[in-house]
Amino acid sequence: MASLNTQSRRHARKQQIRPLAGSLLALAIGFGVATAHADDALPKLPNKTPLKVGFAQTESNNPWRLAETRSFKEVAAKCGWQLVMTDANSSNAKQVSDIQNMIAQHVDLLVFPPREEKPLAPVVLQAKKAGIPVILVDRDVDQSVAKAGRDYITFIGSDFIDQGHRAADWLVKATGGKAKIIELEGTTGASAANDRKKGFDEIIAKNPGMTIIASQSGDFARDKGRQVMETLLQAHPEVTAVYAHNDEMALGAIAAIKAAGKQPGKDIQIVTIDGTKGGMDAIAAGELGASVQSSPFFGPLACDVAQRYAKGEKIPTWVKVSDRFYDKSNVQQSMQYGY
Ligand code: AHR
Repeated sequence: MASLNTQSRRHARKQQIRPLAGSLLALAIGFGVATAHADDALPKLPNKTPLKVGFAQTESNNPWRLAETRSFKEVAAKCGWQLVMTDANSSNAKQVSDIQNMIAQHVDLLVFPPREEKPLAPVVLQAKKAGIPVILVDRDVDQSVAKAGRDYITFIGSDFIDQGHRAADWLVKATGGKAKIIELEGTTGASAANDRKKGFDEIIAKNPGMTIIASQSGDFARDKGRQVMETLLQAHPEVTAVYAHNDEMALGAIAAIKAAGKQPGKDIQIVTIDGTKGGMDAIAAGELGASVQSSPFFGPLACDVAQRYAKGEKIPTWVKVSDRFYDKSNVQQSMQYGY
């Protein structure tokens, strides 16, 4: 479900300015200016088996993360990878130090989902400096610090802005363009939360009958989502719709809505992102309206990219994953995709 030819608008824009960077480099060399541009080439991937691959997970507190980790474990033997795995327990600082330990161990390749865009960007540069190639999966880093194609091989992941658009489009239709919405945001500072908010809010802003009455982080976690929803329900009893940035927070919101004596799916329409088994069951039960899939199965894609990269093939700066969409019209026949 991914194409090596697809590039992000963001990354494509960055690539367009490269000729300018190239001429600045030529100028700098011409004038004998000391630059870091000699480092610009990405590190090479050794052609050997097994390849020691570091996979630094952010956390393991939801089905999405577990499915992502599983997909790396499952592909490792087939791909000739000896995996070194860590779990940052929802801490940016721990994820950074886990990656630094992997750099110190001289892994051959680093693969990770950066928990937040900014705190995880410098360690990408540290890996490059140590000669270790990096593939980012699922979430991206701040492009003003580390750039795909220059500092790391590529970003493999979904278009989070588009996911937000698709969720909003569904909600506009489901509510006839009239809704008072509570938005449950993901982890503050994560590209998944930033872009899912951007995409959704863009569409809602074009619909005068739709208002976001509150927007708060539930950290992509079910219990946090439930707690935040409990508080927001008290402050905004007029709410008629919820947009949660992932299924787990939507399931937490459903629990809070029921506890408040309202019916999810009737009194309050809910739309979310992920396509987990729990989310799909809630759609089948009529409590959740729709879920935009966000595929967590990056293991085989990362293996494919690494093998092509080792052969010297040009890798696009964004290997875009395309996602399914589930609502009551197709959820029963799509259950095999749940995780
Ligand atoms: O970055 C992807 C998001 O992170 C998933 O939607 C969420 O469930 C996970 O924690």
